[in-house]
Amino acid sequence: MKVVAFLGSPRKGGNTELLLSEAIKGIELSGSAVEIFNLNLMKISPCQDCGGCDETGKCIVEDEMSQIYNAIRTADRIILASPIFFFGLSAQAKMMIDRCQAFWCEKYLLKKSIPEGRYGRKGLLLLVGGMEKEVGIKCSEATAKSFFRTISVPEHKTLSFLSIDAKGAILKHSTALKEAYEAGKELVNI
Ligand SMILES: Cc1cc2nc3c(=O)[nH]c(=O)nc-3n(C[C@H](O)[C@H](O)[C@H](O)COP(=O)(O)O)c2cc1C
Repeated sequence: MKVVAFLGSPRKGGNTELLLSEAIKGIELSGSAVEIFNLNLMKISPCQDCGGCDETGKCIVEDEMSQIYNAIRTADRIILASPIFFFGLSAQAKMMIDRCQAFWCEKYLLKKSIPEGRYGRKGLLLLVGGMEKEVGIKCSEATAKSFFRTISVPEHKTLSFLSIDAKGAILKHSTALKEAYEAGKELVNI
């Protein structure tokens, strides 16, 4: 089973990365390897709305997003992990998502969904916010849902944690790491 994970946090060793690592431990238990894309380290331009993908479903911008297009197309499981920034996903995550407009054209204009493999396609959304306000989860969840459906992932689970602000604060949460581990296990359970 092919699992792909997108890390949207710029903070090395931060809460999102720690949470994602636990989910990956749960996944690796099943023998599946996880390909991780650290979006902050990649050269990805924002979508230019140039219309270049309208008729082909292929983006004409040449950058490291090409690795991601290929990974998304061939994955059975996709994880999106992001901190909440200004009540939404991080810019790193959103930039990658906007470039999936090429998949939107393929699916909704050309009427070609990404074929599901033998395990189906499922997603996992991991969110961490420093504030108590639920609106950050709501807005991030809306964007992530539209991302997942666009890339033909019909179902996903969301794990979100609020009031986790300082670097590493997630380690002190009583259940977060365990929940992430279990979510990883469940994601690849067939
Ligand atoms: C630019 C920026 C904007 C933020 N905006 C929010 C916000 O709107 N809501 C929230 O709950 N936390 C917000 N936070 C706090 C982060 O979500 C929090 O510190 C989180 O633990 C960071 O995760 P990380 O360690 O993986 O980077 C913001 C932090 C930064 C740096």
